[in-house]
Amino acid sequence: MNQSITLRKPDDWHVHLRDDAMLEMSLPWTAEAFGRAIVMPNLSPAVITATQAMAYKERIVRLLPASSNFEPLMTCFLTDATDPLDVAKGFIDGILTAAKLYPANSTTNSATGVTEVHKIYPVLERMQQIGMPLLIHGEVTNREVDIFDREKIFIDTILTKLRHDLPELRIVLEHITTEEATQYISEAGDLTAATITPHHLMINRNAMFNGGVRPHMYCLPVAKREHHRLALRKAAVSGDTHFFLGTDSAPHLHQEKESACGCAGIFSAPIALELYAQVFDEEQALNKLEGFASINGANFYNKPVNEKTITLVKSSWEPPEEIPVSHNDYVCVFHPGLPLKWKYLRKGFNEANSNI
Ligand code: DOR
Ligand code: ZN
Repeated sequence: MNQSITLRKPDDWHVHLRDDAMLEMSLPWTAEAFGRAIVMPNLSPAVITATQAMAYKERIVRLLPASSNFEPLMTCFLTDATDPLDVAKGFIDGILTAAKLYPANSTTNSATGVTEVHKIYPVLERMQQIGMPLLIHGEVTNREVDIFDREKIFIDTILTKLRHDLPELRIVLEHITTEEATQYISEAGDLTAATITPHHLMINRNAMFNGGVRPHMYCLPVAKREHHRLALRKAAVSGDTHFFLGTDSAPHLHQEKESACGCAGIFSAPIALELYAQVFDEEQALNKLEGFASINGANFYNKPVNEKTITLVKSSWEPPEEIPVSHNDYVCVFHPGLPLKWKYLRKGFNEANSNI
């Protein structure tokens, strides 16, 4: 008998589903494995109002099979001009679950992001009053700052001040990558939490330069030194409820990654659950996986935990390397080293991979 683990159905508290053909490709992977997902708003153009978020949600839901219980949780993209009333009404009406702060030019499709955090204080004050979570891409964008230091400097200069000025604001520092971030979050109290991606648990910065430039290992924030990866693994398996699952799965067409100026983003949705299981197994902490994947995030967002369960089986297998998007295009799946050690049986996948 293969070893198996059954968990309450997890949620993905940070995913890029995209739109159009890319949405059609990415959605089934996320919707089969997760009960809910926080859907990032950095489309082009970005989702900046509650009405746009509602329309985006409809485009997502229309693609789900009738039998699916998957729930997309919508966010809006903050700009210097965001209207506090629109954001607050969107949250109170149940259209928006959170708002996302991208410092301008910090990452993919973020040119219209926030130029100075103090410019959006009226929005943040309103969010604080109504308990609406602020999700943060935590990197400074000053090109003179070393790219490997941008998260730490964001915490030291921007996040610390923000929490001082708005101490009751609920904050998720997204896709943390450093030992300093794990330390900061573990000491920050119950209103501040962080998501951790599978790729930052599995690769360090060497993976981007292994025998040549590896564009499919490039994301933002970039993977850091090995000691940071080890700190992230320790935080994820610690049982500390301020850390929870957020894949940051972010598909780009392969030619947009394999280019003279390749896009940031790692597409992990087809294997993300399996990767987390592998990490927790390697850390001898499978008993902590359910808290990280299925409970801590729901509690932070004041949502009920999922009642359904999923089962993963310990089994060696090779996932697909490429997934087609419309006719001649494809995306490459994150490959941290094969074979994978755990498998979640997906409906679309059973036949091709029924060797367990
Ligand atoms: O690597 C990343 N890709 N980081 C982000 O913050 C955005 C994402 C994307 O949208 O491609
Ligand atoms: Zn992201």
